[in-house]
Amino acid sequence: MDILSVKDLRVQFDTPYGVVRPIDGINFDIRKGEVFGLIGESGCGKTLTALSILRLISPPGKITSGSILFNGKDILVMNEKSLRDIRGSKISMVFQEPASAFNPVFTIGYQISEAITAHNPMAAWKVKDIVMKFLRKAQIPDSHKVYADYPHQLSGGMKQRAMIAMALANSPQLLILDEPTTALDVTTQAQILELLEEIIKRENLSVLFISHDFGIIAKMCDRVAVMNKGKIVEFGDTKMVIGRPKDPYTIALLESVKALA
Ligand SMILES: Nc1ncnc2c1ncn2[C@@H]1O[C@H](COP(=O)(O)OP(=O)(O)O)[C@@H](O)[C@H]1O
Ligand SMILES: [Mg+2]
Repeated sequence: MDILSVKDLRVQFDTPYGVVRPIDGINFDIRKGEVFGLIGESGCGKTLTALSILRLISPPGKITSGSILFNGKDILVMNEKSLRDIRGSKISMVFQEPASAFNPVFTIGYQISEAITAHNPMAAWKVKDIVMKFLRKAQIPDSHKVYADYPHQLSGGMKQRAMIAMALANSPQLLILDEPTTALDVTTQAQILELLEEIIKRENLSVLFISHDFGIIAKMCDRVAVMNKGKIVEFGDTKMVIGRPKDPYTIALLESVKALA
């Protein structure tokens, strides 16, 4: 059973220099309970794919065709109310830049509380309990302090843990992780990947995992789609794609990883 089914998705930007088509007719399905990887070089259209799923492409960008079925319902034709129900709740996203996800003028606790009550109004003491529970799930050691901290008081890794807590707080059916460790140093990156792996297993989450790094994809993903210049050039079981790549672009991408190792 597929939780998400993307069909012939196209995104276009009308720029002063002409029309750009950064997503050019892509298709993929994410099964319930699987971690589905999307890999490709910087600029190939990964983030725009994620933003399309949440219908967050802003002008001059627009989705010009396709459908995105979430539990069988097309997100691209939903009304605003159904969309609000999905964004940050049934589907939530962790961004590449932990800094950009939080508002600098509010505490971490306040922002996660808001994310919860926006979908589920409840008493303040009750929501605080839930926030604390998710900060602990994200293995934040000093959760009481972090609750009261402003974003700038946290290290990059801690901020990313807080964002993971926020993304999980509404028990999403689909979690989108857009290069969740790219902005972090290597040691922190390994710790956050461990954390994500554990949470995904424990909660049996369905995940779209975006990365430019085949090493991370190999560790995290059941299946993977390889994206190049707005098109998906190859997809399949991660082991198969890595062990026996077919497309020249996939082969080149894998060679570049080997060259670094
Ligand atoms: N506002 C915009 N106007 C024009 N082109 C854009 C805009 N935003 C993104 N793009 C183009 O879309 C392409 C895909 O971007 P993105 O999805 O962010 O790539 P990725 O996440 O794979 O690095 C890029 O080549 C970028 O230049
Ligand atoms: Mg990106």
